[in-house]
Amino acid sequence: MTPSPTLDWTTAPATPLAPPTRAPIDDAPADHAPATLAEPAAPSGLETIERGAARVSVSDKAMINARADVNQLLPLKYRWAWEKYLAACNNHWMPTEVSMQADIALWKSANGLTADERRAVKRNLGFFAASESLVANNIVLAIYRHLTNPECRQYLLRQAFEEAVHTHTFQYIVESLGLDEGELFNMYREVPSITDKAAWALNYTRHLDDPSFSTGTAEADQAFLRDLVAFYVVFEGMWFYTGFAQILSLGRRNKMVGIAEQYQYILRDESIHLNFGIDVINQIRHENPDLWTAPFQDEVRGMLKDAAALEAAYGRDTMPSGFLGLNADLCEEYMRFIANRRCAQLGLAPVFGPAENPFPWMSEAMDLRKEKNFFETRVTEYQTGGALAWD
Ligand SMILES: [Fe+2]
Ligand SMILES: [Fe+2]
Repeated sequence: MTPSPTLDWTTAPATPLAPPTRAPIDDAPADHAPATLAEPAAPSGLETIERGAARVSVSDKAMINARADVNQLLPLKYRWAWEKYLAACNNHWMPTEVSMQADIALWKSANGLTADERRAVKRNLGFFAASESLVANNIVLAIYRHLTNPECRQYLLRQAFEEAVHTHTFQYIVESLGLDEGELFNMYREVPSITDKAAWALNYTRHLDDPSFSTGTAEADQAFLRDLVAFYVVFEGMWFYTGFAQILSLGRRNKMVGIAEQYQYILRDESIHLNFGIDVINQIRHENPDLWTAPFQDEVRGMLKDAAALEAAYGRDTMPSGFLGLNADLCEEYMRFIANRRCAQLGLAPVFGPAENPFPWMSEAMDLRKEKNFFETRVTEYQTGGALAWD
C-alpha cells in the first residue's frame, strides 16, 4: 500500500511553504483595511527568522522587551531560572503515587471528621481545584508571551506542567472520595468568598490576555508587573499558603493523611513557583528601575493588603467555628505574617505591624532541605501508609 503523500515527509517541499494569505473580507467597509499583523514590541519567538543575524550575546538578553532571539536557551544569563528548572525536574511526582485508603475510610465514616472539618476540607479543595487552572492559564496565556527570556520560559514550561499535575491531584481526590465534582469545581463561581479571590486575580490577567496588549511602555510594563504580583506573590505566595496550612494541620493530627501528603508535594512545587516569581519581579525591577516608582510600590503594597483581607474573609467563611489547632483568627494572623514576609522579599516596607507566625511547623514543611530528606524516604512511607512526621 502506498503511503499517503500527506504523511510522507520525504515529499515535503525543499523550500519553506509561503504563509497562507488571508482573503480580503468582501463586505468589509471601505475604510477598514484588512488587518495586518504588526510585529509586537517584545519578541514572541515566532517572528520571521532573521537569516545571518548576529549571534546572541548574554548582554542582549533581558527579562522583558529583549532584543535577543528568545529561541536560544544558551548562553544562559539567569542561572537562577535554570537552577529552578532543574530543581523542579528533580521534584517530579504524580498524585496517583499517594495512597488514598486512609482518607477514604475517614471520609466515609460517620464520625471521622467534625462538620467544621468537612466544611473546611471541601472549601479548601474547591478553592484549589479551579485556582490551579487559573494559575496555569495565567502562565500560558499571559506571562509566557511577555517574558522574553528563554531560561525563564524553560521554567514556565515546567511550571505549567506542574500546575497540570496539581489539577490532576484534585481530580484524583474527587474520584477517590466520591465527591460531587460539580460542587467542587464550581465553588470558585458559587461560593462568594472563593469567587472574590478568583475575580480579584482575574482582573490582572485579563488585561494581558488582550491580543493588542504588548509590553514596551512604562504603563504596559507595570501592568505586567502587577500580574506577576497578583499570581506569583498573592495567589501562589499568600492564598495557597493558608490553604496548605489548613490541610497540613489536619494531617498533623492524622486526618486526611493522603491529601496532606499530596499537599506537601504541591507546597514544595509552589515554594519554587513563588521564589521564581519573586526573582522575576526583582530582576525586572533591577533592569528597569524606572518602573518601580514610589506610587507603584504603594500600589503593590495595597494589593498585598487587599489580598490579606480577602483571605481573612475566606477563612471566616471556611472555618466559622474552627477546629483543633486551627481557626479563622489564626489564619488571618498567618496571612499578615506572610504578607509582611512577601513585602520584605520584594524590598517593600511591611503592610502590617509585627505579626507572629502562628504555624511555626509550616516553615519546616517549606524547608526544601528537610523536604528533600523527607522525599528520600517516601517509598517507605508509602509502604507503611503511616502519617508523615513534619515536626
Ligand atoms: Fe499549583
Ligand atoms: Fe503554582
